[in-house]
Amino acid sequence: MTEINAVTKLERDGDVAVLVLNSPPVNALSSNVRQGLYDGFKAAGASDAKAIVLICEGRTFIAGADITEFGAPGKPTASLLDVQAMMEDSPKPVIAAIHGTALGGGLEVALCAHYRVAVPSARLGLPEVALGLLPGAGGTQRLPRVVGVETALEMMTSGRHVPAPEAHKLGLVDELAPEGKLREAAVAFANKCVAENKPLVKISENNTKLQAAKGKPEIFAEFRKANARKFRGFDAPEANIKCIEAAVNTNSFEEGLAEERRLFGGLMSGAQSAAQRYYFFAERQANKIPDVPDDTPIREIKKVGVLGAGTMGGGISMNFANIGIPVTIVEMQKDALDRGLATIRKNYERSRGAKPEETEKRMSLLTGSLDMNDFADCDLIIEAVYERMDIKKDVFKKLDGIAKPGAILATNTSYLNIDEIAAVTKRPQDVIGMHFFSPANVMKLLEVVRGEKTGKDVIATAMKLAKKIGKVAALAGVCHGFIGNRMLSQRQREAQKLIMEGAMPWDVDRVLYDFGFPMGPFAMSDLAGLDIGWVKENSKGETLRDVLCEADRRGQKTGAGYYDYDENRVAKPSAFTEKAINDFIVKSGANPRKISDEEILERSIYPMINEGLKILEEGKAIRASDIDVVWVNGYGWPVYRGGPMFYGDLIGGPAKVLEKMKAFEAKMGDDFKPAPLLEKLAAEGKKFADLNK
Ligand SMILES: NC(=O)c1ccc[n+]([C@@H]2O[C@H](COP(=O)([O-])OP(=O)(O)OC[C@H]3O[C@@H](n4cnc5c(N)ncnc54)[C@H](O)[C@@H]3O)[C@@H](O)[C@H]2O)c1
Repeated sequence: MTEINAVTKLERDGDVAVLVLNSPPVNALSSNVRQGLYDGFKAAGASDAKAIVLICEGRTFIAGADITEFGAPGKPTASLLDVQAMMEDSPKPVIAAIHGTALGGGLEVALCAHYRVAVPSARLGLPEVALGLLPGAGGTQRLPRVVGVETALEMMTSGRHVPAPEAHKLGLVDELAPEGKLREAAVAFANKCVAENKPLVKISENNTKLQAAKGKPEIFAEFRKANARKFRGFDAPEANIKCIEAAVNTNSFEEGLAEERRLFGGLMSGAQSAAQRYYFFAERQANKIPDVPDDTPIREIKKVGVLGAGTMGGGISMNFANIGIPVTIVEMQKDALDRGLATIRKNYERSRGAKPEETEKRMSLLTGSLDMNDFADCDLIIEAVYERMDIKKDVFKKLDGIAKPGAILATNTSYLNIDEIAAVTKRPQDVIGMHFFSPANVMKLLEVVRGEKTGKDVIATAMKLAKKIGKVAALAGVCHGFIGNRMLSQRQREAQKLIMEGAMPWDVDRVLYDFGFPMGPFAMSDLAGLDIGWVKENSKGETLRDVLCEADRRGQKTGAGYYDYDENRVAKPSAFTEKAINDFIVKSGANPRKISDEEILERSIYPMINEGLKILEEGKAIRASDIDVVWVNGYGWPVYRGGPMFYGDLIGGPAKVLEKMKAFEAKMGDDFKPAPLLEKLAAEGKKFADLNK
């Protein structure tokens, strides 16, 4: 055995040199790793070994680039290209032995081996697109040469981690090794290469699969069209597609590589990738709670109770059934319970690729009941009844009498004071907010709301549980609307004001849609139903909503709301709504004015950032990036713009936001009063990102 450097060693197995990489935790391509690989392959080449196997220790093959080194000044070490050339040009067969994940730069290295052997549990992919990037070390040119253009398009724009058995079928893996026997299998494969004099396959020189796509631009046109909605607003998918186009249309591998490098540079220096890389860390950071250390004991959750089988209760229950946790759902009346369970079943049956036996398995984990006493053996009970303090207090009093000691009592309230709810129990330390978003089986965000007396182990349990059910958690403190809805109310207020000053709902929606939200506030209201909280008997035509609801324009479900809808639920601007708005403006004695798109955007977003700062200064969010996590996952904020607080820095930071808020305040008053923290940051010349430390 020869030690090459701190992370690489060269071993011998008969005629085969085995280059072993060990750079915990995931063998990422740091400068040390690159240098070790370079020197290792050189030493193996110079030895009398007849073939070389590259294998990794620990839990995975090279999992990818070392993203902590992105943007850092390069150290004078071997580049990835040097390593790749050394492998591809080796006169001895090079075999990559893959376990764990070979992603991004990891797969780009493996693609320079002449052959790849993998265990079935391994996964391979080029996920750079998720960071707003493309694989910049030849991956865009090599992958289509191996798997063909269509598969490469799909893999690179989705970033999907392809399981090894599928990769084997695609030709990306040459042989599957028995689990736990990777090294033996790779060495045997290497010996076979030598014995059978197998060709040294250089992927870069194999153009057969590209030829099949030459002169067929429709492959790309159709792919773009089919994915237009998914890719809307993002730069990276298009750049990935262009690279594959270049592989097909240029005359040589080197030309394609040059195009890859050019497009990579554009993405790397652009704002979108910066936002997406920031966001990647933000999401991980959100799990860290300064006074709740990682080793805080957690409570075991083996059985869950959900109170209320309405819109939220049903979706919440599905999350737990999906991971095999039994759920008891309690309703007030049989018909509501039956309806709730039927909706859950329908949701399962309608989900893509649903197998009947899977649906049955999940449904069998759900037990409906009309008796809260059935919660007695639950470890966690989540309340999702009507949003009324008197009702919540009443049910928490009852839950306190029923739940076993140590059970967590959670509320899904959107706005109400959790401390007040906790105070009716004798165990406020066990009470917490678990604020899911609608539809609760789909939306990624879980706002975990910490009450004044919530136990640390209860917080830790909720945060860990979120991960288990596939959610992204962010911690909030008790305040009206917590982080997300509190900021949203700023935007909603401005949206309503804007239409009473002369903008139309479709103008406001268009600006926010173009910004990257899936829909604007008025389209959203139409989808949710304008009559949530509207009571016919009390309606006196005093607000636009009253007028719309009274005309039975209660949203998409009635075929009309702010918009008119055709039979396919396609929205069109409505003459009725326009007249109703104008009538209100005239009645108020004001004159409608022309409002620019710029004003719509600024009035929608600047007050939100300002509110974010109030949330931070009150200690209701730990850090600015947690706010961004809430907005990206709960409200459709485009991830390529990082989140409202990141965006605030992008458009000029606290000084610029303050200047705008002051200008609006002078014209429009207190709604734009700058938060003291905004003034402070601006005075100190700081950025919003400084609140992340
Ligand atoms: N709908 C959303 O988008 C959304 C999003 C996040 C949070 N929330 C919150 O979730 C909670 C529930 O909202 P929803 O939209 O599911 O309401 P919903 O009206 O669809 O469902 C509430 C259900 O609770 C049942 N219920 C009421 N009192 C009960 C009691 N004492 N015992 C048993 N069942 C009872 C009702 O029969 C009803 O089926 C509210 O606090 C709401 O603020 C809603």
